[in-house]
Amino acid sequence: MTVDYQGLRDTFEAAGQGHIFAFFEQLTAAEQEEFLSQLAQIDVEEATKTAKKALEKHGQPEEACAFEPIPEDVIVDVENNRNRDAWFAMGMDLIRKNQVAVILMAGGQGTRLGSPDPKGCYNIGLPSGKSLFQLQAERIRRLQTLAATDGQDAVIPWYIMTSGPTDKPTRDFFTKNNYFGLNPENIIFFQQGVMPCFTHDAKFMLEGKGKLAVAPDGNGGIYGALHKEGVIKSLKERGIRYSHCYCVDNCLARVADPAFIGYCASRNTDCGIKVVPKSHPEEPVGVVARRNGKYGVVEYSEISAELAHMRQENGQLAFGAANIVNHFFSTEFLERVPSFAHELQYHVANKKIPHIDTTTGEFVKPTKPNGIKLERFVFDVFGHSNAFSVLQVSRDDEFSPLKNAPGAGVDCPETSRAAILDQSRRFIQKAGGHFKDDTIEIEVSPLLSYAGENLEAVSGNTIQRSGILTNLEDIALAL
Ligand code: UD1
Repeated sequence: MTVDYQGLRDTFEAAGQGHIFAFFEQLTAAEQEEFLSQLAQIDVEEATKTAKKALEKHGQPEEACAFEPIPEDVIVDVENNRNRDAWFAMGMDLIRKNQVAVILMAGGQGTRLGSPDPKGCYNIGLPSGKSLFQLQAERIRRLQTLAATDGQDAVIPWYIMTSGPTDKPTRDFFTKNNYFGLNPENIIFFQQGVMPCFTHDAKFMLEGKGKLAVAPDGNGGIYGALHKEGVIKSLKERGIRYSHCYCVDNCLARVADPAFIGYCASRNTDCGIKVVPKSHPEEPVGVVARRNGKYGVVEYSEISAELAHMRQENGQLAFGAANIVNHFFSTEFLERVPSFAHELQYHVANKKIPHIDTTTGEFVKPTKPNGIKLERFVFDVFGHSNAFSVLQVSRDDEFSPLKNAPGAGVDCPETSRAAILDQSRRFIQKAGGHFKDDTIEIEVSPLLSYAGENLEAVSGNTIQRSGILTNLEDIALAL
């Protein structure tokens, strides 16, 4: 055995976690070895301390006035903004110089959607059958081509964060689909970490007699992973100055959006966020707020009903800037995170955690929450920003998340599909095209148009038949 069993056991006992060895003697030698190597990766004292601290804070009500609404002028609206073209041009210039990367957070297990595969593999029912990953890959391809110099495409490296459960199926999906036409050298997978699951009195739980119950450490696990997995080093080696970091489930995500990159870069931003107006007080979205003068996001699971419903004099929601998980980071900021990471709190999520009862040895499948998972959120670092920017964008064009199972009626595959097809229709109409009637369904491929450009061929023409527009010949055929 390579791990010092007695030493490890003593450390766990000392931290009050000795109960996890209850069945150790019943395990085979191979099982014992596997268990010990799992345990050896855990700083038991630190993890126990973290859980106790998080649990202590969890039950306490927020101090009144802990959160303040953000001043209205902090939110800049990109729609009809006179600087929009200049921001776009600046972003394109940075992309052309290969200074922009994209970081995707795809470590979530998508429990609400109920699909066994990683969310990015999900086919939202478009005529093309494209998955979320494919839509995102094709937007990157289109931008690389738009930013080409002397016939040579720009390079936007795509860093994809997975977790234990999503890592292999995600990699396999990309291989099977030939990386959606992107150069595999520029797609870099990296894995986030896990945290042990705890009982409500901060005890570790066993998933099996020789296996600790663990769960991904939330999308805020990204910062530790960026360092541990060599991503920061890679960003620096490639000369990347800015990254667009986003969430896998939004079919409309404007990956590496030049306008957002240019807007943030022009203000020397170190952390930026895209928002849309919150649709109603109970919408499950985080909102931008200030706390002790610092900017941040209050998550929907942690905001009180009173604050969620609070309105300003003009009738608008006081906390109404909804986080759509499109963030901007300077490489310098990402590099600085470890210097304050110890100050970041974990959030507590009450969960039903199947486990082995360490007194009876029985497997328990709970019917109500019996433990907690500890997570960090990607936006927890915002309070450490020296230059924070907020860009408001159009919900119709940039936000349609896939959270729920088919048929849910909201944030589900049907609404994702409709969002893409409605946007395609608007792109055509904006370019001066018409439709024979309302039954015509057109899907504009991101390979043809990133955000409505390149569709001049439809101007003054009427689309006669439904179809997928991937290139200019397809447009001619549809007329
Ligand atoms: C998230 C946002 C919320 C926002 C909403 C918009 C966070 C913490 N919350 O909430 O403020 O308004 O989306 O749709 O960002 N992920 C990981 N690893 C994990 C957990 C999640 O990579 O351990 C990824 C998921 O794959 C997904 C993203 O993070 O891409 C968001 O996760 P999800 O759990 O769906 O967040 P929401 O609760 O919907």
